[in-house]
Amino acid sequence: MSEDCCQKMYDDFFGQKMAQKQMKYYLRKGVRKNSRPMINLLKKLPLKNHTLLDIGGGVGQITFELDKVGISNITHVDLSSSYLNTFLGEVKKRNMSGRVKTTLGDFVEVHEELGQSDLVTLDKVICCYEDYKKLIDYSSAKAKKWYAYTIPRDEWWVKAVQQIGVLIQKLRKDPFRPYVHSVEKIEERLTKAGFKKIDQRLNREWMTSVFQRE
Ligand SMILES: C[S@@+](CC[C@H](N)C(=O)[O-])C[C@H]1O[C@@H](n2cnc3c(N)ncnc32)[C@H](O)[C@@H]1O
Repeated sequence: MSEDCCQKMYDDFFGQKMAQKQMKYYLRKGVRKNSRPMINLLKKLPLKNHTLLDIGGGVGQITFELDKVGISNITHVDLSSSYLNTFLGEVKKRNMSGRVKTTLGDFVEVHEELGQSDLVTLDKVICCYEDYKKLIDYSSAKAKKWYAYTIPRDEWWVKAVQQIGVLIQKLRKDPFRPYVHSVEKIEERLTKAGFKKIDQRLNREWMTSVFQRE
C-alpha cells in the first residue's frame, strides 16, 4: 500500500466529524469508557516530570489526563490530520504548545525522526494497523521506562465482531480494516525487547497492559 493511500485511508476513516465528536465528548464528559482502564493504570505510575510519546494519540485524551499528574514533554504522532488538528486546537487553548511536539504520519514510517520518551502509549492503535510487528518493535524501542497499550482481546467473540466489522467495511468499499493480533506474539516481542508486564485490566472486549523496562 502506498504512503498516500495509507494516509488517505486513515484521514477518511478518522475524519473531521469523528474527531470533533470525540473532542466534544471528552470536554463535556471526560475520558471515554474504553480509554478509562489505560488512564487509570497510567495514573498509578510516578509520571511527574516524565516524558510521553503517544502514538495514534487521537484527540489527546492521554495527554490532557496525564498533564493533570505533571507529565512534562509530550510527543504526539497520528496518521489522521483531523485528529491531529483537533488535538492541536485544544493544546493551544490550554497553553501547552511549548511542551507538545506533533508529527502527522505513520509511526512506522517516521519513527527514526523521533527520540525516546519515558512512557510510550498506544491506546486502541495496534488494532488499526496490519504490520503489528514493526509497530511494536519500533515503538517499544522508544520507551525508556514504561510501555502501555490497549488492544482487542484475542478471543473468539471479539474476532467474530471484528469479522462483521470487516464485512461492513468491504460492503462500503472502505479499505480501512480492524485487526485482532495475537496477544501472545505481541507479549513475546516485548519480553524479547526487555520489558516485563507490571499491570493489566480486562473488560469484555479490550485488554490494557502496562510494561516496564527491566
Ligand atoms: C481508534 S483511534 C484511537 C485514538 C486514541 N488513542 C484514543 O484512544 O482515543 C486510532 C488512532 O490511531 C491512529 N493510527 C493508527 N495507526 C497508526 C500509525 N501506524 N501511526 C500513527 N497513528 C496511527 C489513527 O489515525 C487513529 O487516530
